[in-house]
Amino acid sequence: MAQQPFLERILISEEQLATRVQELGRQISADYRGKKPLFVGILRGCILFYSDLIKNVSVDCTLDFMCLSSYSGTSSTGHVRTMLDLRESIQDRHVIIVEDIVDTGLTLEYLQNHLKDRGAASIEICCLLDKPANRKVEVHPKYVGFTIKDEFVIGYGLDYNELYRNLPYIGVFKKQ
Ligand code: IMP
Repeated sequence: MAQQPFLERILISEEQLATRVQELGRQISADYRGKKPLFVGILRGCILFYSDLIKNVSVDCTLDFMCLSSYSGTSSTGHVRTMLDLRESIQDRHVIIVEDIVDTGLTLEYLQNHLKDRGAASIEICCLLDKPANRKVEVHPKYVGFTIKDEFVIGYGLDYNELYRNLPYIGVFKKQ
């Protein structure tokens, strides 16, 4: 592939993503047998990960989405807002939050606080990427695809100013 001007290097290839996402789907299927989990995708970063993940889930499940906002360019504003809320009730449901990346942890902390009074039977987090170096608050994702260094990454749903979500791999963004 020709070198792209916005790309420092490819960090996780399409093949590595496919293999790991398949493993996560199998693990979730084993853990949630008979529980009909509700997958809550956090838009928009989750889209490619979410659709590949649920294709690898073999138990009955339902799908819903939320849209949160906290980022501007390559830095978190630290102020999380709900742009789109769930359509389904999570009362007595086994919820799996599907997120692209955990960085400071502020988004997931906000989300867990926001959902905790809605009566879910359980809430777990499944994130494709974990960037623990930048953590400001404690969050504990049960399912993690890859742990990465503190670099700004794009592709496979992740953006820089809304661009590059369509790349089929995860790459390190080259700052101009
Ligand atoms: P947190 O609230 O700092 O944990 O950030 C979570 C959100 O920040 C993610 O859902 C992403 O949308 C965004 N984010 C964090 N790191 C990156 C990155 O390296 N590339 C693209 N988006 C990122």
